[in-house]
Amino acid sequence: MLKIESVSKVFNRNTLDEHRALDNLSLNVSEGEFVTIIGGNGAGKSTMFNAIAGTMLCDSGNIELDGQDITYMQEHSRASLIGRIFQDPMKGTAPNLTVGENLIVAYMRSIKKNVLRMPSKKEKSYIREHLAALNLGLEDRMNTKIGLLSGGQRQAVTLVMATLIKPKLLLLDEHTAALDPLSAKSVLDLTNKIVSENNITTLMITHNITSALDLGTRTIMMDSGNIAIDIKGDERKELSVQDVLQKFSRVKNKTFDDDNVLL
Ligand SMILES: Nc1ncnc2c1ncn2[C@@H]1O[C@H](COP(=O)(O)OP(=O)(O)O)[C@@H](O)[C@H]1O
Ligand SMILES: [Mg+2]
Repeated sequence: MLKIESVSKVFNRNTLDEHRALDNLSLNVSEGEFVTIIGGNGAGKSTMFNAIAGTMLCDSGNIELDGQDITYMQEHSRASLIGRIFQDPMKGTAPNLTVGENLIVAYMRSIKKNVLRMPSKKEKSYIREHLAALNLGLEDRMNTKIGLLSGGQRQAVTLVMATLIKPKLLLLDEHTAALDPLSAKSVLDLTNKIVSENNITTLMITHNITSALDLGTRTIMMDSGNIAIDIKGDERKELSVQDVLQKFSRVKNKTFDDDNVLL
C-alpha cells in the first residue's frame, strides 16, 4: 500500500545547521498493516510523516501510495487519501465550528476535493452513526463547539473525522501524548477498534514502548533518519519492553534502562 524508496531530506543545506533528517529511508507497508513507530527525539519520525503527507517535499527518492506515485503530489490532493492526527488535540479541527460541522467538513474533504454542497440527510445520519459507534455519547454534542471538548474527546472526534471514509493510509503522530493517562488509554482503545474493524493501513508514532508492542502488527524503530529495527510476526509476539530497550541500546551504542530514552 505504501512504498517509500530511498527518500532523503536535508534541512538547512550548506549552513552550520545542516541536518540530514531522512537518510536514504526505505519502507514498504502492506495493505492492512498496522505499524507502530518508536525512536528518540529528532530521529526523523515526523519528517517521514511530512514527506508522506506532502507537507514537505523530499530531496530525493520516491513515495508510492496504492500504486500511485505521490512523491510530488500537492498536499491538498493527498488529503482525501491520507488521514493524519497530531499530538495537539487543537490541531486539525476548527475550534469555532461545532462537532457536527467539523465532521461534515472532514467528510466532504474525503469524498473528493472541491465539493461545495451541503450534505444530504442520509450523509448526516451516516456521520452521526459513526460518532455514536464510539459509545462516548458525543452524538448528543453535535452542536457543541469542538473547542469546548476535552482533549480526549477531541482526539476521539478527530479519529472519526480521519476515518469517516476509509483512508488509504492513517498517520498518527503521538496522538495520545498530550492526554492524561485515562484519556490516552481510551483514545488508544478507540484507535485499535477503528483500525482493526476497518482494516486501515496505519502508521502510529508513539514514545510509549508498551503501546508500540501492544497495538499493531509490526514495530519499527527509527534512528538518524533511517529504520534501525523492524520487527514483526513471531519475533514481535515474544518481545518485551526490556528486549526493545536492549535493541535500542545496541543501535545507539549506549545503555538505557527505561523508556524515557524515547521521550
Ligand atoms: N522544518 C524543519 N527545518 C529544519 N529542521 C527540521 C525541520 N523539521 C524537522 N527538522 C529537524 O529534523 C530532525 C528530525 O525531526 P523530526 O522528524 O521532527 O523528529 P521526531 O523523530 O522527533 O519526530 C530534527 O533534528 C529536527 O530539528
Ligand atoms: Mg515528532
